[in-house]
Formats: sequence, C-alpha cells, structure tokens
Amino acid sequence: MNPMKDVLVKIRTSDIFLDETIYPRENIDHKRIGIFVENLRDGFKFEPIEVQACPGKRGKYRILDGVHRWSAYKKTGQIEIDAIVKTLNSIDPLLYAAKLAIGPKQLTEAETRNTARRAFQTNPKLTSSEIGRAIGRSRQAVDSYIADLRATTLLELDLKIFHLNQLGIPQDRIAKRLGIPRRTLRDHLAEMPGLAFPPNSDLLKGFTVPQVAQKHGWPEPLVWSQALNKKDDQTRFKELNWGLRTWDLWNFIDCDNRFGDDWPGRIPAQLIAHILYFFSEQNDLIFDPMAGGGVCADTCLAMGRRCWSLDMDDRPEARPEIEPYHWDLEGKWDDLPIINSKDKPDLIICDPPYFDKKASEYAKQSISGLSRVNYLKFLERFFLFLKKISKKNIKLAFINADWRDFQNCPANKEDPKQAILIVDYYEIFKKTGWTLTHIIQAPLSSERFNPGVVAAMQKKKILGVTSRYVMILK
Ligand SMILES: C[S@@+](CC[C@H](N)C(=O)[O-])C[C@H]1O[C@@H](n2cnc3c(N)ncnc32)[C@H](O)[C@@H]1O
Repeated sequence: MNPMKDVLVKIRTSDIFLDETIYPRENIDHKRIGIFVENLRDGFKFEPIEVQACPGKRGKYRILDGVHRWSAYKKTGQIEIDAIVKTLNSIDPLLYAAKLAIGPKQLTEAETRNTARRAFQTNPKLTSSEIGRAIGRSRQAVDSYIADLRATTLLELDLKIFHLNQLGIPQDRIAKRLGIPRRTLRDHLAEMPGLAFPPNSDLLKGFTVPQVAQKHGWPEPLVWSQALNKKDDQTRFKELNWGLRTWDLWNFIDCDNRFGDDWPGRIPAQLIAHILYFFSEQNDLIFDPMAGGGVCADTCLAMGRRCWSLDMDDRPEARPEIEPYHWDLEGKWDDLPIINSKDKPDLIICDPPYFDKKASEYAKQSISGLSRVNYLKFLERFFLFLKKISKKNIKLAFINADWRDFQNCPANKEDPKQAILIVDYYEIFKKTGWTLTHIIQAPLSSERFNPGVVAAMQKKKILGVTSRYVMILK
C-alpha cells in the first residue's frame, strides 16, 4: 500500500478502533447504531468509513469518520469492511474528524467547544480561523472558546524565550528552535523585563527559590539565575549550599537534583560549578556539545554564565535550550547550528559517553556504539574541529574515565589493547594541538555497588573502575 495516497482497502473490523483523542463527539449514539444494523440486515450498503494508520501501532487503524457504521458492521458479525485509509500530512486529525462529523449530525455546542480546545491543546499553532472552518464556527467564537488556553500557551512561550535568551542563545536560533517567526520573537522579547517582575518581587518578599519556582511555574534553575543575579561566585556557592573544593580532588556524594534531569551518565551540578568557578568568568559563553540531561545549562544559569548546548537526543518540550545535533563519524559538521555565530565560546565543557559505557541507554547513533578505533578517531576529529570554532584563548574541560574491560576478568588478565586510559586521551590532545594544564580527579563516588557483586569481584581479583577525571586544556 502506498502510504502517501488515500486508498480504498478492506480492513478487518478488529484492526480498526475508536481513538477518543480524535473523536469529536461526547458519546456514541446507540440508537443510531441500531438503525444502521437494521439497514445492513435489509441489504443496504454504506459508504466506506475513513481511517488513519495509527501512529505507533503497526497494522491498526483509528477511525476518522464512521464510528456508528463500524459499530453496526461489528454487531452484524462482519469481519472485513471497506475503508479509505487517509494520509492527512499536516491536517489535524481531530479537526478533520470534526469537519466530517458535522455533515450528517451537528456537533452539540459543548462538543464544538471541546473539539476547538482539544485541537488547540494538541497544536497551539492552529489559528482560530483554521479551527473555526473545521468545526463550523466563526473565528470570534473560537477565540472565546480558547482564550484561557491561548493565554497559558503565550505565557509558556514567553518563559521559553526568557530561558533561552538568558542562556545567551542568539535570536535566529531561538526562533528556529521554538518554531516562531523572528518578528514574533522580537515582540515577545520586548515584554521580557516585565516577565521576571512577579517572581523577583516574591523573592524580595522572602519566598524561597523552590516556592517561587512552583508558584510561577518557572524551572528552578531560572529562578536561581534571578535570585543570585549580580552576586559573586563564592556567594553563589554558599547560597546553593555547595562546599567549595580547594584541592584537585572533587568528589561529590550525589548529584544535586535541582539541576539537570535524571539521565544516563549524569554528572553532578557541583562538578560543573567547580569547572565554571576555576576556569571561567561570569557572563562567559560555555558550550556543551553533548549536553544529555542539561545539567551544564542549568548550572550556568545559577552561576551567571551563558550556555549553548547540543545533543542528538531532541527534547523540544522538556529541554528547548538543548539544540538537536548529531555529530556523525564522517560528517564535516559544517551544518553545526553555532558555526556562523559571531559569538564564540570561552569554555567548552565536553562530557561524552565514556566509550561504550551505558551504550544501551543512549540513542543508536551515539558515539558509544562505535568500535574502540572509531571512537578514538571520532575524538581526534572532534578536538581538531573544536579548535576551528573557538576563540584564541579558549579552554576545554574534558570529562572522562579510564575504560578497562574489567568485568568478569581478573586485573592481571585484562587485555590492555582493549582499554582506553586517560593517557590515551592525552595523546590525542597533544596531536590535535591542545595543551593540558590540569588534571582533576572527580571520582564516580555516587555509584553504589551491591555487596554481593563486590564480594564476587574480590574473589575473582577483578579491579573495578570508579575513576573519573576532568582534563583542562587550552
Ligand atoms: C555522558 S552523556 C552527557 C551527560 C550530561 N553531562 C548530564 O550530566 O546529563 C553523553 C551524551 O552524549 C550524547 N551523544 C552521544 N553521541 C552523540 C553524537 N554522536 N552526537 C550528539 N550527541 C551524542 C548522548 O545522547 C548523551 O546524552
């Protein structure tokens, strides 16, 4: 079947279903089904129903039009029925279903209002006229149905713009990321000073950061950026309750859950904060090319730094500040979102997958799926490229760990040719023109090992890895 065309086919009634999220009516009319059953028994032939291949459910179809006919067919024991499989492309399926529904039997006022609201909630980019045309109402009527939803959506959009702007992401990239025209973005930006006023006035009244975040629906790191505005780094550490390490051993018991998402290979915000403290200044631009759960951007907000983040994992709703980008092995990366920017990062914080550790938890195209040779080859090209996009006095903080194939293997029998040790990264840095200035130990102390596993490792003389290092280069 060609998926790009509407096609008439026979489909098993059991492969068709009613998806309430795209059904515009409140209830099924059982009397109507009864009449249709009678009609079928009298030999009457109905028009084919319309269905859509169900997203995410192979071989299943959801009904766009003909719920009553389909129910009647099922009641009369028909196994297969004629159906048109529609390809809607960008047309909203609920609105399409509503438009067809008002033909035979008008939607009630409540159903019409509800359909307008549900369509807008699924796709806030729909205009009132578009919704109105589908449900048979004027633009003004639709405006009144969705006024409250539109206000909330606008507020959410404002907040996203404020967030991305605070991180120093240029306007063209904010507009692209949020899917809005540059002019709309400029209109919103003009409102920005007023947006922070209510949370700031609550902070002044003595409400705590979490209280303000909850009351105004702001991400907590964004409230921290307001609460700590104009304070120096040391004061920020104190207010965030982070002990400042003086020596080159940065060990933290746990990740700070206020910053970043629960993410495979998540690093503590305190670790990022220490890199920022020692190797950057306030308002510097930080670049995190493999940002994962967003801990770097969140910490930058709290520490008064700007931050650009990229990751192959695209989460536009949860993390609009992380722009999607896949660093592929062969590409030239000249389509990189930041490539044409006038601004250049002052510090790159790079926390890639530690070779194939956690490979099963990252997306398929992750560099953790590469062979050892290709992983190292990738890093060599990557380090060279980072120099190309940087200013002269750029610094790079590279976070990684020794990788040894220690599982199930006594230390004495490990194959060193399989390992990647921190010194191997050093060799690549030397080759690509980076100068190492510091190696800081930041062990994975939060890893909890089950005592049974530890006892088994000890018995077999297996030497595990909890090492992790931050290499600083210039
Ligand atoms: C160790 S995690 C980063 C964790 C992050 N620092 C945090 O604390 O949440 C490495 C990230 O690199 C991303 N990644 C791996 N290969 C990539 C590639 N080829 N292009 C872009 N991102 C990639 C993964 O999606 C993953 O989120």
